[in-house]
Amino acid sequence: MSYYKIENLEQYFKHYNKSVREPRKFWSKIASENFTWYQESEKIVEFDMAEAKIKWFVDAKVNIVKNCLDRHLSKRGEKTAIIFEPNNPNDSAEHITYNDLYSRVSKMANVLREQGIKKGDRVCIYLPMIPEIAVSVLACARIGAIHSVVFAGFSASAVATRINDSECKMVITSDGGFRGEKTIDLKGIIDEALLNCPSVENVLVVKRTNSSIKMKEGRDQWLQPLTEAASDNCIAEIMDSEDPLFILYTSGSTGKPKGMVHTTAGYMVYTAYSFKNVFNYEENDVFWCTADIGWITGHSYILYGPLLNGATTVMFEGVPTYPDFSRFWEIIEKHKVTQFYTAPTAIRSLAKENLSYVQKYPLKSLKVIGSVGEPINEEAWHWYNDHVGGKRCPLVDTWWQTETGGILISALAFITPTKPTYASLPLPGIQVVLMDEKRNEIEDNQVTGSLCIKFPWPGIARTIWGDHQRYKDTYFSAFPGKYFTGDGALRDEVGYYRITGRVDDVIIVSGHNLGTAPIEDAINEHPAVAESAVVGFPHDVKGNALYGFVILKESGEYRDRANLTKEINQHISDHIGPIAKLDKIQFVSGLPKTRSGKIMRRILRKIAEGDFSNFGDTSTLLNPEIVDEIKEGRL
Ligand code: WT7
Repeated sequence: MSYYKIENLEQYFKHYNKSVREPRKFWSKIASENFTWYQESEKIVEFDMAEAKIKWFVDAKVNIVKNCLDRHLSKRGEKTAIIFEPNNPNDSAEHITYNDLYSRVSKMANVLREQGIKKGDRVCIYLPMIPEIAVSVLACARIGAIHSVVFAGFSASAVATRINDSECKMVITSDGGFRGEKTIDLKGIIDEALLNCPSVENVLVVKRTNSSIKMKEGRDQWLQPLTEAASDNCIAEIMDSEDPLFILYTSGSTGKPKGMVHTTAGYMVYTAYSFKNVFNYEENDVFWCTADIGWITGHSYILYGPLLNGATTVMFEGVPTYPDFSRFWEIIEKHKVTQFYTAPTAIRSLAKENLSYVQKYPLKSLKVIGSVGEPINEEAWHWYNDHVGGKRCPLVDTWWQTETGGILISALAFITPTKPTYASLPLPGIQVVLMDEKRNEIEDNQVTGSLCIKFPWPGIARTIWGDHQRYKDTYFSAFPGKYFTGDGALRDEVGYYRITGRVDDVIIVSGHNLGTAPIEDAINEHPAVAESAVVGFPHDVKGNALYGFVILKESGEYRDRANLTKEINQHISDHIGPIAKLDKIQFVSGLPKTRSGKIMRRILRKIAEGDFSNFGDTSTLLNPEIVDEIKEGRL
C-alpha cells in the first residue's frame, strides 16, 4: 500500500492513525517511494522539543531540484512546467517546458558558481513575478546556495535589514517590475538598500521593464548575457537532508523580522505530499496559486510542491484588478486552470465589484478552489464557492504558516466534506492540540484555545537564522514540549478546527502578516513622535486594518495633524513598505499602561473596534483616566 495519495475519507483516517502510531514508518515509505535520493535515511526523525532541535530523514542525501526537474525529463520533458502570464494581457503568455526550465536553471546555476557562489552562501532574490524568480530560486537550490527571497514590495530599509541579517553575498534583482499600471523601480530600491549592506559582492540584474537604471561598476552585471554564455550542464550539489534550503523572513510580535530556516529533505517531502492531497492533484491539471513567490505560499505551492509532482504551475506577474476586475477569471479561462488558490482579501475585494466580472466566464475547467492567509469569513466563503467554484468545486480552506513549510490543517479536495469558516482536519502527521491558559489540553468542543502541535512534521522550520534561542522562546516555550502557532482555534463535535485568529501581536492585513513592533519602531522614528501603539481592527476587504495611537513630543503638539498623519505613514512606507500603512492615526496624550509599563493592547483593540462595552479588568492600570480620553477621540 502506498501512503502518498489518500483516496477516500476512510483511508484518510487510516493514514492519519498510522502517521501518529508509526510516524517513522509512515514518512519513510512516502519518502522512499516518491523521491530520488543519493542516500536514504534509516533513522527518519530525531527530535528534542525542549531544545527545539528537529531533524528529518537523518543522514539522507538529496537534491531538491533533481527531484523538481531532472527526474521528470524522461517522461515529461515536453510538458509545460510553468505558464507565465504577464501583467499586460496583450503580451503573450510563456509556456516553459520541463526541458526548458531544466536548461534555464542549469545555466543560471552555472552563472552563480562562476560568480563565486558556493554551497551555504546566502543569495537575496528581489524580483517581480517573472520566470527569472523561479529560475533563480531553483538555481540556488541546485548548487546548495541558500535563497532568501524578499517580497518586491518591501522598502529599501526592510530589504537591507533582511540582507544584513543573513549576510547575503549576492542580490538578484531587475531593472523594474510591472504591477497593473505602475512600474516599480526595483533596482533603485536595491541601490539604496546596498548603501548599508557590506556583505553583498555582486548584483545580477534581469532586464524586464527597460527602465533606465544605474549600474555600479564592479558590482552590478546584467544577467541575460551571462546566462546566454553559460553551459546548460550543471552537476547538482549533494545536500544533506538538514542542509538549509532557504531563509524566508516573517514578522514577529517583537523586534526584527525572523529569518525562518527551512531545510532540504523534510520540506521537499512535506510540500510535495501536501500539494498532492489537499488539491487532489492529477497529471494533467493546471494549478494556479496567486501568491507572490516572496511569501511562503509561493515557495511551497507555486514552485516546490507543484514541480515536485511534475505539475503545470501558473505564475502571474500582475494584480487582480488590472486591466479590470475580471483578470483572475479571464486567466482561469485562458489557461484552463483546474485548481485555483488565492487569499480571502482578494476574494473580498473582487466580491465588492459587479457580479458580471466573474459571470462572464464559465470557469468550467475548475475542479478545486482554495483559500489561504487568514480566516475566510462566511460571506466571502459563499461568494467564492457560488460564483467561482460554481457550487461544484470543493473549497479548501488551508491553514498554515511560514514556519510550518506546508499546509497543516485543511480539507482534502473531494475527500473531506467542507464546512464554511472551518479549516477542518489536520493532515496526516499533524498532531493538533488546543491548550487553555493553565497549559492543559482542552478536551471540550467549541472552546477557544491556543493552537499547538505536539509532534514534529517534516516541513517545520528548524530555526531562526542566527538566533536559535529566539526560535525556542517564540515557538517552544509557551507550552513545553509543543510547537505553539500563535493562533487561537476551536474544535467542533466532529473534530473540525476553526481558526479564530492570532493571539499575539501579529496582525494580518490583506493576508500579510505584520508585527506591531516594527511598525511602532517606524512611527517612533518620526521626530515629532514620542511613543505609539498599533492595533488591528476589522476591515471589510483587508480583513484587518491598522489603527495607530500616537503620543507627540511637545515639539510636535503644534503641528498640522493631517500633515503629521501623512508623514507618519510615509515613514512606515519607507521603513517597511506601503502594506504596513495605518488606516487611522489618533493623537493621544497617553496610552493605557500597567504598573510594569506594559501597554494594555486589549483596551486599545476594543476602542479601535468601537466596542466600548467591557474593557475587562482595568484595576492594574497606572492611568485609568486615559481610557476615557482615548474613547472620546476615537476616529
Ligand atoms: C498566519 C501565518 C502560510 C500561509 C500564508 C500566511 C493565518 C493562514 C489561514 C487560514 C485562518 C490563517 C494564521 C497564521 N492564516 N492561513 N486558512 N485560516 N488563518 O503565512 O504570513 O506566515 O501567516 O496566517 O494566523 O498563523 P504567514
